[in-house]
Amino acid sequence: MTATENERVTPVSIGTARSSGPSVQDFLAVDSRSVPESLLDHSSASQGATDIPKSRYVDAGFAELENEYLWANTWQMACMEVDLQNPGDHVVYDVANQSLIVTRTKDGAIKAFHNSCLHRGTRLRSDDGRVASFRCPFHGWKWDLDGKLIELPAEWDFPQVWQQPDSCLPEATVATWQGFVFINMADDPQPFATYADKLIDHFDRDFDMAGRHRAFWATKEVPANWKVCMEAFGEGYHVIATHPQILEFTADENSEYSIWPDSPHVTRFINGFGAQSPHLAELSPQQVVDAYMAFSVGSAKGEIPEGMRVDVPADANPRAVVADLFRQAMHARFDADLSDCADTELLDAILYHVFPAFAPWAGVGQSLVYRWRPGSTPDTCFMDVIRLAPNPDSGEIPDPASHQVLTLDQSWHEAEAMGQLADVFQQDMDNLPKVQAGLKSTGKRGVSFGLYQETRMRMHHRMIDAYIDAGLEADDRDAAELDRWRVPAD
Ligand code: FES
Ligand SMILES: [Fe+2]
Repeated sequence: MTATENERVTPVSIGTARSSGPSVQDFLAVDSRSVPESLLDHSSASQGATDIPKSRYVDAGFAELENEYLWANTWQMACMEVDLQNPGDHVVYDVANQSLIVTRTKDGAIKAFHNSCLHRGTRLRSDDGRVASFRCPFHGWKWDLDGKLIELPAEWDFPQVWQQPDSCLPEATVATWQGFVFINMADDPQPFATYADKLIDHFDRDFDMAGRHRAFWATKEVPANWKVCMEAFGEGYHVIATHPQILEFTADENSEYSIWPDSPHVTRFINGFGAQSPHLAELSPQQVVDAYMAFSVGSAKGEIPEGMRVDVPADANPRAVVADLFRQAMHARFDADLSDCADTELLDAILYHVFPAFAPWAGVGQSLVYRWRPGSTPDTCFMDVIRLAPNPDSGEIPDPASHQVLTLDQSWHEAEAMGQLADVFQQDMDNLPKVQAGLKSTGKRGVSFGLYQETRMRMHHRMIDAYIDAGLEADDRDAAELDRWRVPAD
């Protein structure tokens, strides 16, 4: 019998091997400044070596289980607090056949109502905006901003509803954190504070997002399953083939992936910049710095404009050099004082992830936030990108960027104000329909994730199963309903 891939891996080695080259913790140990304590909080935990069934990405039956038990029972970022500045401001949050109206009430609270008329089910709101009440477009039943039924035409005909205690709009649970509004549709959800405790601990301590405004927000419909899309933004492994133009200054294969077993909803990925990829033959610090500079000024030919080239000693740490250049540029341009900021905060992609699908970057200056939601079939999804930018020193906070929506056929280049980021995003996006199509091939049994670099994805799949199992059990359904898609025990 031929040994399977799993049998060839010695159990003690599962997930313990690492790339050559310095680790992220090695970079942090020689940072030119003191490093935020949160970044030293790193741990990993093997998630086994088994293949993940590919049907989880393409089968409508599995998507239905996810819709019913994953999306209905997890915390998701629905909008930002700036979208709800005044009473009656509201955002319609659609996810997995469900729709919520997230709104500001008259007394300043935030509530999330199920967006479904208690009469015959009509969606009460289709668009974001500001209203004095929620009035159904079909027969005119009306609820106030607290969800209380206040008007019902021909109320004589509905004594079972009018002024009855259960005529309020059903609510989801709401939490706010660092300017974001989260919802959870479960009856009695785990509090967000414990669900996302590692995120809250790290950001509240080291990466406060106050003092920033939303400079960009776009939602794009993507021709791939939500997990395919999300997983494309969760590892540095793809840089070698997808973004080869950044290898000279990107520590890709030696990225760090953190899993904290006591806070399973939160994971982290750190991709170091200003250091070369382990895939390349050794470069001099000068070459690394030159490549970084050329990329950061947007030079397609890798050229650095006159006067911008700096001499880098052969024994210099290119990360420290590049970070210093960044500090100087920020000082000259915005009068910003970043002298205390660690190199890692200025350079690296530090991407947290809150299960199932919210991912904020940590660091100084601009920061990105991602969100994913399933589409109407397993073959599509929606990805949101938000960019938060530091408020200007003038004290005048710019209006939050309005919402741009890109269709399946549009490219990220069509989003206004996305800048250079659109190039990199489009490179990522170009892979996704190919993945989705390839997953339908009968010649490939499962998805063979890396044991370390893709360990968070392994864990997320197991967590999805745990949510579905809990839901099936709560509904008195047979756990075997999940079996054809279940991630096998290792
Ligand atoms: S369906 Fe809403 S009032 Fe009739
Ligand atoms: Fe990428």
